Amino acid sequence: MRISVIGCGYVGLVTGTCLAEVGHSVVCFDSDTAKAQMLRDGRMPIYEPHLEELFLRNRQEGRLSLAEDAGETVRSGDAIFICVGTPPLENGDSDLSAIDHVARMIASEARSPKLVVEKSTVPVRTGQELKRALAVYGRNSGSKFRVASNPEFLREGTGVEDFLHPDRIVVGVEDEQTERQLREIYQPVLDGKFRCPVHPSGCQGAPEPAFVVTTIASSELIKHASNSFLALKISYANALADLCERLGANVEEVTRAMGLDPRIGPHFLRAGLGFGGFCFPKDIQAFIRLAERAGMDFRLLKEAESLNHHQIERFVEKIRHALWVVRDKRIGLLGLAFKANTDDTRFSPALKLAARLLAEGAEVHAYDPQAMEKARTELPGVNYEADAYAVARGADALVIATEWPEFARLDWEKIQAEMARPLLMDGRNLLDPKTIRALGFEYQSVGRPDGDSIGLPA
Ligand code: UDX
Repeated sequence: MRISVIGCGYVGLVTGTCLAEVGHSVVCFDSDTAKAQMLRDGRMPIYEPHLEELFLRNRQEGRLSLAEDAGETVRSGDAIFICVGTPPLENGDSDLSAIDHVARMIASEARSPKLVVEKSTVPVRTGQELKRALAVYGRNSGSKFRVASNPEFLREGTGVEDFLHPDRIVVGVEDEQTERQLREIYQPVLDGKFRCPVHPSGCQGAPEPAFVVTTIASSELIKHASNSFLALKISYANALADLCERLGANVEEVTRAMGLDPRIGPHFLRAGLGFGGFCFPKDIQAFIRLAERAGMDFRLLKEAESLNHHQIERFVEKIRHALWVVRDKRIGLLGLAFKANTDDTRFSPALKLAARLLAEGAEVHAYDPQAMEKARTELPGVNYEADAYAVARGADALVIATEWPEFARLDWEKIQAEMARPLLMDGRNLLDPKTIRALGFEYQSVGRPDGDSIGLPA
C-alpha cells in the first residue's frame, strides 16, 4: 500500500520507517525544512535504537522517501498518517493547530479518495473536527475522505520494537472499508512477517498483537486513558515510597510483591524522581482539561500530577537535609534525559532537579550518555562534563537522576575516592544500598531504608 506520513518527529519517523520495513511504500514529509534536509542527508534528528539502520536501509531499497512538497506527499498516499505534534498550551489543553493546518492542506491538495489516519495523541472529538475540516475545505476537490483514529503506544527508546511487536493495535473507524484497509496495512505486523531488527535471530514466540476495532471516540480516549493510568501507577508507587521512608519499609519489596498479583502487574511501579517526557505530563493535563470541559472534575488525576511535581521537591529537600547548606556546593548530576535510552530532555525530572539546585545556588556538573546536546540548550547554567568521573571529581554530592544501566557499571570505588564528600543521592534506585555503602558512600535513595531519610519518625 502507498502510505504518506506527515510529521517526522518520534511518532512519524518510527511509523513511516516501520511501515516501509514491513513492505509498504512510504513517503514522509515535515514542514521543518532543516529537519527534512537532515533526514534527506541520512542523518537522524533523534536517537532511537534501530531507527537509523532501518531508515537508511528502507531508503536505499526504495520503499521510503522524503518529499519536499506537502501536496506531493498528500497525493502519493492511499492512506495519510497525521503524526504532527500536539504540544500543551498554557492552560493544559492540547494545541491542535498543527492538525488543523494539515487537515486543510490535505483537503486542498488531495485529488483522489483518501483514508486520513490520526496517529498523534489527540483529545476525543478531534476525529469529528478533522472529518468536518476535510469535508468543508475539500468540498471542491472532488476527493472523498474517510477518517480513522490509530493511536500510537510507542515508548521512546523502544519505539521500533513497540511498533513491530505491539501488545495491541487500536483502530477507531466508522465503516468496514476503513477497518479492512487498516487491517491490511498492519497485516505484516499482525502476522510477524518482517525481518526483525530487534531480534535478528528470529522473534518466534512473540505473541500476536490484538487488533482492536472501536469507534473513533473510544480509540481517542484509549490513548489518554492508558497514559494517565500508567502515570497514576507511578505516582502511587511514589506515594508508597514516601510512606515507606516514614515507616522504615522498602518500596521495592512492597511493589515487587504487589506486582505478582496479575490484577496489578509489575510494570510502572518503580519509585523515583517521577515521570517526565513529552507524553505523560502533557497527556495527563490534557485529559484533566478534557474531563473538565465535559463537566467532570478528575481529581484522581490532579492528585497524581501534583504528587509527581512534589516528588522533585521532596528530593531537593533530601539533598538540602544531607548537605546542610546547598549554596556553593558542587553537585554532580548523572543523567539528564527523562529516562534511559533516549536523548530526550523534554519535561525531564533530571533537568527540573538541576534547575532547582541551580536556583538554590549550587554549582551543578552533569553528564548524560545521549542527552548533553539537548540539555545544553535547555539549561545553559550547568557545567557539562565529558564523563561520569569528571562529574564526580571534587563533588560534595552525586545525584543519579536518570536510570542509565551504564551508570550501574561505573567504577564506584574510583568515584568514591575522587569526590570531596562521598554522598550519593540515588533518585532512581539504580544501585544496591548494601554494596554501595560497603564502598564507603553515604547513600540515600527513594523509599528504601537508607537510614538518614527525612520524615522518619524519631
Ligand atoms: C509513554 C508511554 O509508555 C507510551 O505508551 C506512549 O506512547 C508515550 O508515552 P515514554 O514517554 O517514552 O512512553 O516513556 P515511559 O517509558 O512510559 O516512561 C515515562 C516516564 O515515567 C519516564 O520519565 C520514566 O522514567 C517514568 N517511570 C516509568 C517511572 O518513574 N516509574 C516507572 O515505573 C515507569
